[in-house]
Amino acid sequence: MALEGRVVVLTGAGVSAESGVRTFRDNDGLWEDQRVEDVATPEAWIRDPTMVWRFYQARRNQLLEVDPNPAHFALAELESKAESFTLITQNVDDLHERGGNSSVIHMHGRLRSLRCEETGRSEVRMERGDLGADFVTCNCCSNGSRMRPDIVWFGEIPMELESIYREVENCDVFIVIGSSGHVYPAAGLVNLANSCGARSILVNFELPINGRDFDEVHIGKAGEILPSLVDVWFDS
Ligand code: APR
Repeated sequence: MALEGRVVVLTGAGVSAESGVRTFRDNDGLWEDQRVEDVATPEAWIRDPTMVWRFYQARRNQLLEVDPNPAHFALAELESKAESFTLITQNVDDLHERGGNSSVIHMHGRLRSLRCEETGRSEVRMERGDLGADFVTCNCCSNGSRMRPDIVWFGEIPMELESIYREVENCDVFIVIGSSGHVYPAAGLVNLANSCGARSILVNFELPINGRDFDEVHIGKAGEILPSLVDVWFDS
């Protein structure tokens, strides 16, 4: 069935899995060998900043080694073909941008930037000296304050929520790709889209916890099935 009208896509870790970026909740996921509370909460940053810093520096360094996969490229093609297109991602990597999508809403933050603990301002900090074991200081304070990962941790409010709700409320088609449906508010956006009359579509490796909320479900690897789905959506 052709895709018409305003398309909003929400992606999760599954879309980057085929690039070699670990997901969170699969068998080999990040939370298998790490407790969320130890590295992804404001409390963890206060209790043991060195451990949190090490965890995110490893992930920031990994950005230099991974590349977009066919799922990212298919989403760039979808953007070029859709009448109206918005991409919301829970992912903190930069693979959508590098895959060719022009504007991406990173609701859970970004690995490429760091945030000043004093002013809350973000700066892209990916130079060699920004990627080591030492903490990084900001350019916005005269004395250079310590920076924290520019990540939305558990217990914090996702970024750009107002525009996310507006986009989802007004879309005609809502597509979720590679997300386990465990983390709110992202997991509830399908229900908002449904209640506003959108057609909802899921592409995921397995049926997630909220899989029954979708009108249409495609099970498989995003990098394998998304390119042909985009062809079908626009050739029909
Ligand atoms: N193609 C499609 N789906 C895949 C693939 C793939 N190649 N590989 C894995 N998946 C699916 C898994 O089956 C799983 O349902 O992607 C989903 C990934 O789920 P999670 O690891 O829970 O990732 P996500 O839903 O993005 O997590 C949400 O949780 O820890 C926080 O802030 C973090 O943004 C993250 C949020």
